[in-house]
Amino acid sequence: MLIKNCTILENGVETVKDILVSKGKIQKIYRCSEIEELDIDEIYDAEGLLVLPGVIDVHTHMRDPGLSHKEDFETGSKACAKGGVTTFIDMPNTVPNTITEEILKAKEENSKDRSYVDYGFHFGGSRSDNSLEIKKVNDRVASTKIFLNMSTGDMLVEEEKTLENLFRESKIVSVHAEEEMVERAIGLARKFKKPLYLCHLSKASEVELLRAAKKEGLCVYGEVAPHHLFLNETQVNNLLMMKPELKSVEDNKALWEGLKDGTIDTIGTDHAPHTLEEKNEKITFGIPGVENSLELMLKEVNGKISLEILQRVMCENPAKIFGIKRKGKIEVGYEADFVMIDLKRKEEIKNEDVVSKCGWTPYNGMTTGGKVVSTFVRGNLVYNGIEFMNKKGRGVSY
Ligand code: DOR
Ligand code: ZN
Ligand code: ZN
Repeated sequence: MLIKNCTILENGVETVKDILVSKGKIQKIYRCSEIEELDIDEIYDAEGLLVLPGVIDVHTHMRDPGLSHKEDFETGSKACAKGGVTTFIDMPNTVPNTITEEILKAKEENSKDRSYVDYGFHFGGSRSDNSLEIKKVNDRVASTKIFLNMSTGDMLVEEEKTLENLFRESKIVSVHAEEEMVERAIGLARKFKKPLYLCHLSKASEVELLRAAKKEGLCVYGEVAPHHLFLNETQVNNLLMMKPELKSVEDNKALWEGLKDGTIDTIGTDHAPHTLEEKNEKITFGIPGVENSLELMLKEVNGKISLEILQRVMCENPAKIFGIKRKGKIEVGYEADFVMIDLKRKEEIKNEDVVSKCGWTPYNGMTTGGKVVSTFVRGNLVYNGIEFMNKKGRGVSY
């Protein structure tokens, strides 16, 4: 397949190129001649479209199994395809929690042939100390996810000894850590010399801690969720409840600054769907996000951040940090995962367009910075701006 006239970033410069794809991988990035074209079975014209490597969202809660009235692999992966996300990594607070090798295996089995995009799993660190299980699964998962604060799913781990064992046996640790727990996590990473991924930073003081850890030379990475960039505490209502909670306008600013200066490494949505009934009935923490993150982030391209930074934090860095093979870049040998964007189509985000099973979006009424008009996974068109097709998503390798 030849994808013609792609506007891609090459060394930070927008350049128009043709991309030759074969067996799901990028074969050549060049300007194809008309004679050569005659030889090619399938041609897709991306004239006028911005083409990025597919977005990698390493922070999603797809609720499958056990909570699939909120989301499942099929609906969640559709939401990904619609948002230009070609790989998602699923969190372990499903039911049962992903804390044994056997449960992980069942989750892997259950996901087969049900996703439109590629995917992987985080394993869960358990307060019952499952460090032996961690040892068994390290090469099959993105990281060990540990909750250092209470959140949806009751996976809090508090005991120091247990935390030490979990850190010791993990290849990389992701944490839900807020404020002083960020310090605690960095301390453990220092002690056990483990890479640490700080999920959903939401406060200026947390960005400072990350900045200092990086300066010290530690392998610590930070993520920010779109809701902590675009929304703040003055807007809170029963729908906009999540952990960490929305913070101040000053915190928004510090997070944008952290993205801009390279302190914050990734955008992860913390896609955490709950039904409207659940949200309205009682306080329920979590909001969906995977469907809107890229289109929303595009609003601030050439405003608060450059296109180069957007591509780095949404595509390249997530793959690099978790060692996801052959993804995150438009380069020869990489998998042909692309999102194509029409920057002229700045459209209103509407609840009625949501494909996530939860059926609503916290960004209802906001205007995007562009429209995802097609999403490709390993050379297969999975979303054409309207419909979904080619459900061939598979597990990633690390
Ligand atoms: O608000 C949240 N919801 N924060 C989390 O850490 C978990 C998530 C969920 O699973 O609903
Ligand atoms: Zn969390
Ligand atoms: Zn989460």
